[in-house]
Amino acid sequence: MIRVTRRYRFSASHRLHSAALTESENRELYGKCNSPYGHGHDYLIEVSARGPRDRESGLALNTGDLDRLVMEEVLLPFQHRNLNLDVPAFADLVPTTEDLAAEVRRRLSRRWSEIFPAPWPVLDRIRIHETRRNAVELPGSL
Ligand code: NI
Repeated sequence: MIRVTRRYRFSASHRLHSAALTESENRELYGKCNSPYGHGHDYLIEVSARGPRDRESGLALNTGDLDRLVMEEVLLPFQHRNLNLDVPAFADLVPTTEDLAAEVRRRLSRRWSEIFPAPWPVLDRIRIHETRRNAVELPGSL
């Protein structure tokens, strides 16, 4: 069994602000990320797939197929967008890196079996780096 990881980048802006909290609670919890006009990040995404090496190709993953899926489902919809305003999932959900990773997983999962028919490869892991110091990781499936 082999795990293959591809890296992708996109830049987007967001504002962390919860409607369930007061203005001062929001400021205290999210700090600079609560700034009313938002701010940008250069996100780095790592998508990992897992499967056996194919006998004929020697590959565990067709990376071109993964690139197309990530381009269509994540990079084009998110690049240079405001995550709060341009991504429907974040209309009522704070676009933390945690929820961004969950949204990326949802988007990749919904078309995974169309691009990669069962049984292999499976979506193994999603990791998103928001800054040099912060990374969030989710398993590929629940
Ligand atoms: Ni931020």
